[in-house]
Amino acid sequence: MKALTDPVPFVDLKTQCQELTPEIMPAIEDVIRRAAFILGAEVDEFEEKFADYCDSSYCVSVASGTDAIHLALRAVGVGPGDEVITAGNSFVATTFAISHTGATPVLVDINESDHNLNVDLIEQAISPRTKAIVPVHLYGQPGNMKAIQEIAEKHGLKIVEDACQAHGSEYFGKRAGGLGDAGCFSFYPGKNLGAFGDGGAVVTKDPEIAERLRLLRNYGQREKNVHSMLAFNSRLDTLQAAILLVKLPYLDDWNNQRRKAAAQYHRQLADSDLVLPTENEGSRHVYHLFVVKHPRRKQLMDYLNKQQISCGIHYPSPLNQATPYLNIQSAPHGLPVCTELADQIFSLPMFPGITSSQIQRVSDAIQSFDASVK
Ligand SMILES: Cc1ncc(COP(=O)(O)O)c(C=O)c1O
Repeated sequence: MKALTDPVPFVDLKTQCQELTPEIMPAIEDVIRRAAFILGAEVDEFEEKFADYCDSSYCVSVASGTDAIHLALRAVGVGPGDEVITAGNSFVATTFAISHTGATPVLVDINESDHNLNVDLIEQAISPRTKAIVPVHLYGQPGNMKAIQEIAEKHGLKIVEDACQAHGSEYFGKRAGGLGDAGCFSFYPGKNLGAFGDGGAVVTKDPEIAERLRLLRNYGQREKNVHSMLAFNSRLDTLQAAILLVKLPYLDDWNNQRRKAAAQYHRQLADSDLVLPTENEGSRHVYHLFVVKHPRRKQLMDYLNKQQISCGIHYPSPLNQATPYLNIQSAPHGLPVCTELADQIFSLPMFPGITSSQIQRVSDAIQSFDASVK
């Protein structure tokens, strides 16, 4: 039983790891016994199960979420000279992955409500060089994918979803990752489905994209020492696949725990000065992050920090302020919403297993901050 003054971590990975150790250790020992560390049987089994989980046909696992987006873009035909439209506020990996193909990211502003791509601004950003759109299902919720699908179809563009924060989220009953030509996931340890190290995967319904991805991740080899293309070394370790196989059956329950925690935050903070996250019609948010907005962010975060309540900021500046992108052209509309939100948003503690008393403690502290400044 946690005392009401115990620190509240931003994410608690240790408790989950301890609970799963009895299941994970035999899985790891099994891999060690067979010593099939690269592209072993667990990789195939995980790929099959994860494709199924995402309502997709194929899954090609890779070394990280960044590689998943990079290689998926290459697999759908993106390369030097092309432009790729994406949101102005994401983790920098989204734009790095675009840049690694030789293409240029074109940053489009977002909605105030869900912090996802503002679909009304996408068409203004399309040029003859535009090849693809990378919608980011930010914080665990898909944006307006119907509109994005219509725009992509009208202009002959590919859709590569950045679902790195959205394992198991849904859009009108369909799982994230299965809503575009390819869907990309990260298994970074803190993600909704996390490995014990880096990992990633692409899911797709298109057998040709899957085949290109298998070549791109493994030196262009279909058979050993036959290299059909210039490619990469980006494979999910068998050990990580074995761990993910143990964890995958728990994902829905963990997402439900996140949703329950989000509902409690909503109940307890409804009267606070925070702007709380909203859930779009038809979407099932999986709350990788619970991101709120407050006009006095710095003071509030300092106040929470003093009470040993850890928070994060996702993200403190729009992507056109990252050093490699200082000279990048944004879409005609610019990034006013990204820029305004970047100064006011922050993320409250959120993880499966967060207790109702931990949420209560965070909420009470926020309420007492609001009262102290009134
Ligand atoms: C939205 C988004 N895109 C891409 C990535 C990159 O994933 P990774 O860290 O596995 O390379 C992450 C996570 O870190 C992410 O949150």
